[in-house]
Amino acid sequence: MSTRRIVLSRSAAIVGAAATGWLLPATAGAQSAKLRVGLMLPYTGTYAQLGVAVENGVRMAIDQQGGKLGGREIEWFKVDDESEPSKAVENASKLVQRDKVQVLIGTVHSGVQMGIQKVARETGVLSLIPNAGAHAATRALCAPNVFRTSFTNAQITLALGPAMVARGHKKAVWITWKYAAGEEAFEGFKQSYPAAGGSIIKELGLPFPNVEFQALLTEIAALQPDAVACFFAGGGAAKFIRDYAAAGLKDKIALYGSGFLTEGVLDAAGPAADGIITTMHYSDSLDTPRNKQFRMEYAKAFRSQPDVYAMQGYDTGLLLVHGANAVQGDMEAKPALYRALESAVIDSPRGRWTMSRAHNPVQDIYLRRVENMENKVIGVAAKAQADSGAGCRMG
Ligand code: PHB
Repeated sequence: MSTRRIVLSRSAAIVGAAATGWLLPATAGAQSAKLRVGLMLPYTGTYAQLGVAVENGVRMAIDQQGGKLGGREIEWFKVDDESEPSKAVENASKLVQRDKVQVLIGTVHSGVQMGIQKVARETGVLSLIPNAGAHAATRALCAPNVFRTSFTNAQITLALGPAMVARGHKKAVWITWKYAAGEEAFEGFKQSYPAAGGSIIKELGLPFPNVEFQALLTEIAALQPDAVACFFAGGGAAKFIRDYAAAGLKDKIALYGSGFLTEGVLDAAGPAADGIITTMHYSDSLDTPRNKQFRMEYAKAFRSQPDVYAMQGYDTGLLLVHGANAVQGDMEAKPALYRALESAVIDSPRGRWTMSRAHNPVQDIYLRRVENMENKVIGVAAKAQADSGAGCRMG
């Protein structure tokens, strides 16, 4: 072997070592360590399947980019938050303080989100919200390190009122679980429905995650409204749809909802769901190449149909990949990281969306109708809908 050849192969070896991180200076060396990602989601209880769908979506987006973030491999940490607000601060702290995650992805339940928000504000950890619509997270308690890829609870129901009145349903009963998500969904409905000419004749509720609907359905039958509007989700939503039909209300009083009512539950609800009209920032039937490709790949990877939660998880993964790539995996480069996340344009299965100044999606809201166990798009209820972000001051 000639001398020249030896020199060349040595330098090639050095390039190889640099690429794997052995010879890099201390700070860059830290970036070649695995990036620590925490998932705090419900894996038990009425929202269990929502948590699984979010995680599937996150992993799928990252796998499609070679399974790395900004060139770094990933170490995952997981906590089942049980949709239990009283354990939220402790669970989030475990991930941030004990496991030292650099990104915390979570969660589904608005009450639990408020615990995560507290920990995110105190520690500065990057917090990506893949579902929970709690208003404060992107309003009064917004923070530079918190980004939401889903919605605010009122963002969905602000589009619902006019759609109901346009169908001639002007006298409605509202029903929900009595916790932040249901109450904030009602806020949007209370604003949009009367403004369009409808009147809310009664507001009904039960504690989360109670599913004893019978007495309330009897009350609805006696009130004889034109329509019922609601917020329910997950396992409880499937039961509400079935109980509504079993009580003989399905063909008498039109059922509307924030679109979560019919997400991921259509198999469980069966024909009882046919005809329900909802508003939502996604629909299975969106006829775009992007959505079709997403649905095909998700079904292949997980042997189940994706829903809004899977899509939001997927977008969370896309956003994280975008941010991490922009700083080449250096998650401590916070100003550059936040700038990248703030200016991201996410090419989502729901359609392209951008971040509002308060870090919540600006997005189209679709009108959908359940037909043959599918959420079919029947119109656009609101174009480029933004949440008010009221009270948000980025510190
Ligand atoms: C929430 O608690 O914010 C929440 C939960 C489930 C949904 C939507 C919102 O489907």
